[in-house]
Amino acid sequence: MSMFTLGIETSCDETSASVLNGHRVLSNIVTSSVHLHKRFGGVVPEIACRYHVEYISYVIEKALKKAGIGLPEIKLISVTQGPGLVGALLVGISMAKSLSFALDIPVVGVNHLHAHIWSAILSERIRPPFMGLVVSGGHTCLAKVQAADRFKLIGQTRDDAAGEALDKAAKILGLGYPGGPAIEKMARSGNLKKIKFPKARLGEDNFDFSFSGIKTAVLYFVREREKSASLKRKIKTSDIAAAFQESIVESVVGNTIRACRQKKLNKLVAGGGVIANKRLRERLSTECNSNRIKVYFPPRELCVDNAAIVAGLGRELFKKRKYSDLSMTAVPDLKIGN
Ligand code: KG4
Ligand code: ZN
Repeated sequence: MSMFTLGIETSCDETSASVLNGHRVLSNIVTSSVHLHKRFGGVVPEIACRYHVEYISYVIEKALKKAGIGLPEIKLISVTQGPGLVGALLVGISMAKSLSFALDIPVVGVNHLHAHIWSAILSERIRPPFMGLVVSGGHTCLAKVQAADRFKLIGQTRDDAAGEALDKAAKILGLGYPGGPAIEKMARSGNLKKIKFPKARLGEDNFDFSFSGIKTAVLYFVREREKSASLKRKIKTSDIAAAFQESIVESVVGNTIRACRQKKLNKLVAGGGVIANKRLRERLSTECNSNRIKVYFPPRELCVDNAAIVAGLGRELFKKRKYSDLSMTAVPDLKIGN
């Protein structure tokens, strides 16, 4: 029997709608206001919100069309409830609630961080318990996952998220926005061993992350290099990008492996925009292998923000009868475990 779920995601700068049949992705339409934020070097909330209002109906219609079904066939709506920009979240939530009311079908509010962690489960069967890792533009966290509705926070960033640090460093290096893909591209031709940026250490029993120190070290290095002709000759921008990417990667990998070992979890499921990074995937795979941890990544298109991952987790919550009602609203600071 077919069970069509419509997913809606509007937490930041991507406006997305997706149709799933069971756990099979029939369509996943993503449009982004990223080009409008470029000249500001970061997401401008008001611009993101207006873009969502303009494009939300369009992405839903396109997702239905690509899936080859009509609205009346949808049996469940799943929408991102938080964390994210309040105005942006409200666009998706208002649409989801209107459709739920009009079609008389249930609506489920989904935690965006849980959806990133759950994303690999759309294409692979993975049974909890496992360690979940989100590395994105807004968040970097580790969570112990026992079921679709049981997440427990293990560690999180104390300052910048990894993606945010990449975006800021790219700005310092003049590589444009978003910084993650730009740094990855630049790092490919660089030598990662010419400079060593510091890696934050927060203690043995602590699984929190910190990236702002690494970012500040880049800023000071770039200032120093601007004053010195010989440094400019010796160290290229690509070398700085490679060394910086490496210290972010090693911070994430080191902390994650330590957390898996201490919590005795031999499965790791990673998600979020920065997990699209090839070097991070390689290093996580290598270290997981040598520590006998099985690691799972979603396909690259499911790493960055999209509605398929929201529909995927929403469907699991629905099966556990965890759906919402029309009093549901945006929770901009929603945490892991809620
Ligand atoms: O998950 P996401 O789309 O949005 C949030 O929920 O935050 O992640 C966006 C972040 C941005 O900071 C972007 O620079 C980073 O993911 N990113 C990457 C790559 N692709 C996107 N970082 C490193 N390497 C990439 N290939
Ligand atoms: Zn995200």
